[in-house]
Amino acid sequence: MSKAAPITAKRFKGITIPRKSHPAIRKVTRQSDAPTLHGNKFWNSSCLLIDYLHRNPPEHCSSVIDVGCGWGLGGIWCAKKLGAQVTSTDADPNVFPYLQAAAALNGVSTHHRVARFERLSKRELSAFDMLIAADICFWDDLVDPVFNMINRAVKAGVKQILVADPERAPFFEVAQRSMDRHCAELVEWETSGSIDASGAILVIHNA
Ligand SMILES: C[S@@+](CC[C@H](N)C(=O)[O-])C[C@H]1O[C@@H](n2cnc3c(N)ncnc32)[C@H](O)[C@@H]1O
Repeated sequence: MSKAAPITAKRFKGITIPRKSHPAIRKVTRQSDAPTLHGNKFWNSSCLLIDYLHRNPPEHCSSVIDVGCGWGLGGIWCAKKLGAQVTSTDADPNVFPYLQAAAALNGVSTHHRVARFERLSKRELSAFDMLIAADICFWDDLVDPVFNMINRAVKAGVKQILVADPERAPFFEVAQRSMDRHCAELVEWETSGSIDASGAILVIHNA
């Protein structure tokens, strides 16, 4: 009997998620410098976010910014399933070759740009209907930059802001401040389907 081919990708909510062993990802790993700020894989919180958006289709999503995008799964899903124009931003330029490989596997592309949370101005954020993020608040010293970026996004008129997280302590600090200042909701979430993920999603409706 012939051996089954190894599984190098999964399907989740209509997109293909390559594993590190996928030939397209292995090629990037061979040719590029490694990401340095934890943008070294798809984190499960991006599946939380996708599952939430799948079950709660957003009203305003023609232009989407994915901040701290890493390999960019959330933005790839929005481009493919919502037909959104997506800008993927990250502090670490080394994530983008991975994002481009994953986007190509899904037949979409996103604009990408190196930008720290601290550097995204109100003017730049005003170009977007929706801001998404997954697992971007993993150190205590990210609380202020992430919360201040959320404040600028609200002031800029971004209509929906969603931050998914595996429930790390710094995220809860951002969530509490956002509930106090912006009437944000904190939603417990669990995925259904081929990938198991659970955590919380900070949701701000600003329309
Ligand atoms: C845990 S990874 C999550 C990546 C992606 N959102 C996902 O769910 O797969 C965190 C990402 O945040 C980025 N990051 C860390 N600090 C940042 C900052 N100050 N500004 C922008 N991006 C940052 C990292 O480079 C990394 O890609």
